[in-house]
Amino acid sequence: MKKYAVILAGGIGSRMNTTVPKQLLEIDGVPILAYSLRKFEEHPQIDGIVLVMHGDYIHEGERIAGELNLQKLLKIIPGGSSRKQSSFNGVAALPEEESFVLIHDAARPFVSDRIISDCCNILETCRAASTVIESSDTVYILEDNGVVNEIPDRSKVVMVQTPQCFHYSVIAEAHRLGAEDPELNFTDDSGMVHHYGLAEVRCVRGELANRKITNPGDLL
Ligand code: CTP
Repeated sequence: MKKYAVILAGGIGSRMNTTVPKQLLEIDGVPILAYSLRKFEEHPQIDGIVLVMHGDYIHEGERIAGELNLQKLLKIIPGGSSRKQSSFNGVAALPEEESFVLIHDAARPFVSDRIISDCCNILETCRAASTVIESSDTVYILEDNGVVNEIPDRSKVVMVQTPQCFHYSVIAEAHRLGAEDPELNFTDDSGMVHHYGLAEVRCVRGELANRKITNPGDLL
């Protein structure tokens, strides 16, 4: 089965509060986006990469991909106004045949080879999975007025990372249904698969280092 990565770099990084989208900021002189592109390019199980880039920064995506001399890059396409829309565009750009699809946030530059391998391998025995880490903090679910409503058992709480991975038919169907529900703005792809009951979502062990660069402090 072919294995494709969809790298989502269509956001603007409003919480980072910089003039360029956060995935173009540099860590050690290397753009954040380049880290995950390189990881998927060099991973032996990955056959192809679709890069979803903010529409105003396609040229930056082309420049970075050129500098990395990517051999597996299939397309660079514009994202949408939400992560859901960008992911939709990325999945729509894949070949229309069954494959394994790993969807990854460009804002997580430190994804490991082991996580990518685990995502590819788990799809041999299931049709959807998400990378997760245990929650070291207790989690509260609040009422609308901010008062504590529910305290889930911490041993059953996990924090969601990416990659999230799917059989193509599952994630394509999730996006087809998601497009019919424009008012539902899912912040991750597994959430959409779960919502529509398309597959049981299994878990791949994530890593603290696979953090998402969100706020200025994360960059430090
Ligand atoms: N993303 C995307 N298209 C969007 C929004 C987000 O491809 N319209 C991508 C981001 O580029 C990022 C990932 O989804 O790699 C996770 O989203 P998030 O961290 O929320 O990024 P931003 O939306 O850019 O950040 P913010 O919410 O602070 O604006």
